[in-house]
Amino acid sequence: MWQVRVAPCGDFDNHPFQSEHFTCEPLGAAMGAEITGARLPDLSDEGIESLKQALWKHKMVFLRDQHLSHAEHEEFSRRLGPFAVDAYTQGVEGHRDVHPIIKEADEVTPSLFGGGWHTDSPFLEEPPSITTLRQVEGPPYGGDTTWTNTALAFRHLSKVYQDMLRPLKVWMSARNNFATQNLLREGGAIQFGDPEKHEQGLKGTVHPLVRTHPHTGEPSLYICDTYAAGIDGMTTHEAKPLIDFLVQHTIQHAFTCRLRWEPGMVCMWDNAATMHLGPNDYDGFRREMYRTTIAGGVPV
Ligand code: SIN
Repeated sequence: MWQVRVAPCGDFDNHPFQSEHFTCEPLGAAMGAEITGARLPDLSDEGIESLKQALWKHKMVFLRDQHLSHAEHEEFSRRLGPFAVDAYTQGVEGHRDVHPIIKEADEVTPSLFGGGWHTDSPFLEEPPSITTLRQVEGPPYGGDTTWTNTALAFRHLSKVYQDMLRPLKVWMSARNNFATQNLLREGGAIQFGDPEKHEQGLKGTVHPLVRTHPHTGEPSLYICDTYAAGIDGMTTHEAKPLIDFLVQHTIQHAFTCRLRWEPGMVCMWDNAATMHLGPNDYDGFRREMYRTTIAGGVPV
């Protein structure tokens, strides 16, 4: 006999972050909050600091009705920290750190940018800390983004399992993603970014499987369905079931929140404590998004 899986309970704490610069309205029990009463370009330096604190608390925050220009998006992002090197995409003309993610109404693809559960570019030695994303145009329904809270997922493992994971290192590489994309698409093999970035993505990097948040000290699982390709020192037969279990554990419904986008919205998330997924479910409609990524240090 073994226990059937029941929805996790206890230790959910998404109470609103208090700020004198804006109001936080939690989106779900596990994570996420809407920020009201602020326009991003108008935030003072203290307001930006408070926004970062709200982000560390809620892991994902979003604001409606911002309607930022590329220049405003770029300027706001720069105030969060230096830009990260984006592993895959090219910036728009005149704003090289504002990257378009656009799917046209007539575009049909089996593999979409960000279409599997992932944290951003973990195969880099220094993966981005924060990602910001804004919508200019979107489908009337579909195209929602979903996140999961990997710190909460870690806390809902037994102490024995947590202690077993703590010393492990996960190999993050884009190799399985490249191979899958090439299997799914017709025609020749694709390359992501320039040849150097492509090679770097394949080689990947080894990071702690349980990482400590650089600003809060909170432990979280550094796990990824798209890029976790092995566990240092383990055979693939040993590593794969462990990675599969951790992904399944982490993406269970209780730990997630889902955002229904509106044009003008801006959202940001903490890559050290979340995974996310942009679904491929809105064929026939145009979705126009722009994102920036903020540099992060080496995960510890
Ligand atoms: C991403 O993975 O950065 C994109 C998510 C989305 O388009 O919803």
